[in-house]
Amino acid sequence: MEISPLCDAVGVTISGVQLRELTSEAAAEVDAAWNEHGLLVFRDQELDETGHVRLAEQLGEIDVNRFFAAVDGFEQIADVRKEVGDELNIGGGWHTDHSYDSDPARGSILVARDVPPVGGQTRFLSTTLAWQTLSDELKERVATLDAVHSSEHIFGPNSGYAKRMGDRFSNATAVNTNVHPVVIAHPVSGQPCLYVNPGFTTSVVGLEPDESKELLDTLLVHIAKREHAYELAWEPGMVAMWDNRSTWHWALNNYEGHRRQMHRITLAGVALGRAKVSQYA
Ligand code: SIN
Repeated sequence: MEISPLCDAVGVTISGVQLRELTSEAAAEVDAAWNEHGLLVFRDQELDETGHVRLAEQLGEIDVNRFFAAVDGFEQIADVRKEVGDELNIGGGWHTDHSYDSDPARGSILVARDVPPVGGQTRFLSTTLAWQTLSDELKERVATLDAVHSSEHIFGPNSGYAKRMGDRFSNATAVNTNVHPVVIAHPVSGQPCLYVNPGFTTSVVGLEPDESKELLDTLLVHIAKREHAYELAWEPGMVAMWDNRSTWHWALNNYEGHRRQMHRITLAGVALGRAKVSQYA
């Protein structure tokens, strides 16, 4: 197995391995690389739906997404699909999955099934790097704060998904809200990560609405800087795995007139603890 960086900011590409036949030793190496690098990209894979589920089970416990329709016959696999003529895509803005849950999902394994001839890239960025490049003043200010994360405005009954995605979306009433530290310690690596995102983070606990908005805007603009990010151009046979604690992602909606289909399995995560400011500020 060979591991090489995708860019200076986030992620690695892994070659010399077929994910459909991963030994337990190789699975442990992939698992460690995933925790360390946040984003793994594998090219030229031959992973059918059964192999996708088996791979996910080798790496953890599957967390079935309650909002997006599943692939026929595979309730564990979310069908991340945009047909010709659809306007809305899934994940079309910076976010990190399931941050509204009490134990947010560890990450996802995305398999390219139908890649448009143009566009359809996914952007990723490192929230670990974003913490490292934050000013000392802001580090100190946010290190003891908590933020509210909600799925109501994105997946609730009045959301664009509920109104415009037809039978590819359901359970609009299964929305929820939870609070997490603004600076978490990655559950495995212990690295501090800025854990707020434009999709689901709605406010900072204990601040007046104006102050909360101003601080959140400042953090989100900082995290979204290009130097923290990488744009992945999908190829047939490509598989990517991202860690929701140390990365954000954004599926670009830039392939009008074409179809795009990806299969996503999400793995369960754990409750998130605060990074120790004295250690890192
Ligand atoms: C998502 O899970 O947000 C979708 C990612 C993608 O389709 O590239």
